[in-house]
Amino acid sequence: MGGHLVLALRILPAALRARDVAAIRAFEGAFETIGLPAFGAQVVTGLWLALRLQPDWMQWADLSDPLSRAIALKLGCLGASLMLAVHARLVLIPQLDARSLPALGWHIRAITLVAVIFVIAGASIRVGGLAP
Ligand code: HEM
Repeated sequence: MGGHLVLALRILPAALRARDVAAIRAFEGAFETIGLPAFGAQVVTGLWLALRLQPDWMQWADLSDPLSRAIALKLGCLGASLMLAVHARLVLIPQLDARSLPALGWHIRAITLVAVIFVIAGASIRVGGLAP
């Protein structure tokens, strides 16, 4: 989430003003090697934690339970992350230039929002917040 916030709030506005695709590519290149393994580790340990708290994973679909709601929200975030990643890799990045940079900007804002929701949903399991 931190990396996405730096990209969305610091690197992206400057790159959009200067129409500077190289700045985005440089950040993505440096960030990916840390960000992707970290995200993978969070998904694996997140699923592990979810199974510890609710071993019957069919119950994760029972949205009357606050824990299941948080887990379902996280799985929804995971699906959104995967769709955004595939869209960026296959559609946006191959044809990235100064004209298509604003489209990538909306994509970066969307994935940043998903990262923030991931963290809020995670913290809500311990501190509450997704209860009715
Ligand atoms: C589908 C993937 C994920 C699942 C199923 C998942 C599941 C969980 C569960 C069950 C907990 C509760 C742990 C506890 O209180 O005992 C948790 C905590 C948390 N998760 Fe995730 N998680 C996932 C991905 C992520 C990602 C990608 C992030 C960050 C971007 C994240 C951030 C957090 C945070 C900040 C907490 C709170 C830790 C705490 O209370 O000390 N999670 N997650």
